[in-house]
Amino acid sequence: MKLVRSVAGVREALMAPREEAMRIGLVPTMGAFHEGHLTLFRTCAGECDVAVASLFVNPAQFGPGEDLERYPRDLEGDMHLAEEAGIDLLFAPSAEEIYPPGFESAVEVGELGKVLEGESRPGHFRGVATVCLKLFNIVQPSVAYFGRKDAQQAAVIRIMLRDLNLPLELRVVPIVRDADGLALSSRNAYLQPDERERALALPRALQAGLEACRAGGGSNSALAAAHRILDAAEGIEVDYLEVADLDGPTLAGAIRVGSTRLIDNVLLDEEAK
Ligand code: PAF
Repeated sequence: MKLVRSVAGVREALMAPREEAMRIGLVPTMGAFHEGHLTLFRTCAGECDVAVASLFVNPAQFGPGEDLERYPRDLEGDMHLAEEAGIDLLFAPSAEEIYPPGFESAVEVGELGKVLEGESRPGHFRGVATVCLKLFNIVQPSVAYFGRKDAQQAAVIRIMLRDLNLPLELRVVPIVRDADGLALSSRNAYLQPDERERALALPRALQAGLEACRAGGGSNSALAAAHRILDAAEGIEVDYLEVADLDGPTLAGAIRVGSTRLIDNVLLDEEAK
């Protein structure tokens, strides 16, 4: 696996594969790799001739008081994991490489960027869409891979690809969960054992919602069932719990456990995928 730090380095490394019309896949990430990322990498490597991952903790998508400074960083460990999972090229730029002095453009995200995560984290999706557009332009992949855990992010990217006529395919890969049901996230590393136990209320609530929906109650009963569990849970703060159309009817929630904010979701209609 090749580690590349500059935009010029990526362009040079991908020149030959592009000339040979090879299929290039991109997995954008912020590092601190876990099995969720590795699933994306393996899928990308299995479907593409050249598997590229980007590793960039993007300051533009963090709001004031969020966890930009403490976000887990481990380039050495991540390099080994990415290589083992089939990544050919890891692009790990500095903040100056992505946002050089004088940088002043951004992608404006519409209504979907203002609800759920967008309401709690104003400007978040503007930062996500802008960095993703830059990464798409730098790597010029045929296909980009995103995790369904960030369902709203994937939906925002899908709309951007459509609206800006970007010539690449979007692949959204299912959520990977730990044995206890918690969706894998780099932020799980912040949780103390007792906080992790409390955090399980979120996947349990979503699962109860899914079962209520499958039992024929539709999205209203899904929401009610999930609320019953989350509202009764102790030691967590519910940021939001809603059903929204995120590439299909989705029950999505965000909670705070101590100083950690976690998100998760379930698709209520598997057919909608
Ligand atoms: O999902 C993430 O890790 C980030 O939001 C992304 C897509 C890499 C953009 O910074």
